[in-house]
Amino acid sequence: MDNRDVIIACDFASAEETLRFLDRFGDERPFVKIGMELYYAAGPEIVRTLKARGHKVFLDLKLHDIPNTVKKAMRVLSGLGADIVNLHAAGTRAMMEAALEGLTRPDGTRPLLIAVTQLTSTDQTALEQELLIDRPIDEVVISYAKNAAAAGLDGVVCSPLEAGKVHSACGGSFLTVTPGVRFAEGDKGDQKRVTTPAQARELGSDYIVVGRPITAADDPVAAWKRCRQEFGVC
Ligand code: C5P
Repeated sequence: MDNRDVIIACDFASAEETLRFLDRFGDERPFVKIGMELYYAAGPEIVRTLKARGHKVFLDLKLHDIPNTVKKAMRVLSGLGADIVNLHAAGTRAMMEAALEGLTRPDGTRPLLIAVTQLTSTDQTALEQELLIDRPIDEVVISYAKNAAAAGLDGVVCSPLEAGKVHSACGGSFLTVTPGVRFAEGDKGDQKRVTTPAQARELGSDYIVVGRPITAADDPVAAWKRCRQEFGVC
């Protein structure tokens, strides 16, 4: 199955702002990502509202707690109708397996579950000096991705630049969901290692997560269409 799509990061502070932005898309229903800011501001209702309007939703809440707590929280998120949810692989295999159990609906369906390996804001120095992990960060990322795959997860969040390595280690069907995407002539903002949508495609990304290049564009709909075209989904 070809999962490829562009997911718009709706990093807005309220439901009103989000819906105003999405109204600009007319009859189009882009795949959207709801992060902590919007979810904590607007509550679970924002997920129900976007699902009722026909959007696919990636709920980016990055759960990390004891297995039983994560299992119960995932049951709630699954009930909201989210299409993709995530957690920190650092929570260990027991937590990831519990999450999958919680996500599975009575009819056997469930949202896709993907893992954050190491946050891109964590560098080698922080890894060694604060987390007391002495291994090279690339090795840690791949090891966490393998744990996620072994626990039965569907994929990881990573840079497009890491997508190939993740697929080699965990298999071609293990999903790579990749932020850090910019148009060739675009402003990088605070992202350091960026690729264009076309490069992300070449590198094997399954989904690209794109925020400001679309949300801050003069014409967000045109920017979204361009992104999809360059990424090869239309
Ligand atoms: O605006 P921009 O395209 O940089 O947005 C990227 C989105 O992906 C944001 O919601 C950001 O929080 C998220 N993200 C990221 N890097 C990660 C994980 C998530 O940029 N490693």
